[in-house]
Amino acid sequence: MSRPMVLPAWAQVTERRRAHIERVTQLLDRWSEALNLTPADQQLWHDAGRYHDALRDATLEELRQAVADSSLPDTVLHGPAAAARLERDGETRRELLDAIRWHTLGNPAWGRVGRALFMADYLEPGRPFSQQDRAFLASHVPVDFDGVFRQVVRTRIEWTLREGKSIFPETVALWNHVR
Ligand SMILES: [Fe+2]
Ligand SMILES: [Fe+2]
Repeated sequence: MSRPMVLPAWAQVTERRRAHIERVTQLLDRWSEALNLTPADQQLWHDAGRYHDALRDATLEELRQAVADSSLPDTVLHGPAAAARLERDGETRRELLDAIRWHTLGNPAWGRVGRALFMADYLEPGRPFSQQDRAFLASHVPVDFDGVFRQVVRTRIEWTLREGKSIFPETVALWNHVR
């Protein structure tokens, strides 16, 4: 049973974004229950979903101010900015902070929650492309967590290459770690 999703008071999201966050969080709830995680871990996965894009629609100026690392590209800033905000508010779950901080690029040092968030962000049913393939993968996460994760990393890198976009070192390291 999925619990109601509550965004933090400092969230800056459009209605459309809120709906995406809700779908990501629901998927994480579904998986963490199917995997029989402890209540604390189920809460961890739920929080990763509801916080990950909480600053996705903040202005670039605000995001730049919130993130010390000036080498990061614009589209990546909202993860580190949300993690910094959570930390300032006293959040101490390292796994949660790392999951949120790196959710756009991926990180090879991730534990399970970072991987789960990376998958849920991509596999949530509201995205308009490859709906059947993605629904199939989403349904397989509880039985083949690592296999689906590898597939999601691969698919996202393939897309990035096809679009002619840059691939970040963290993403390359993630692929080398899981392939
Ligand atoms: Fe994001
Ligand atoms: Fe997202």
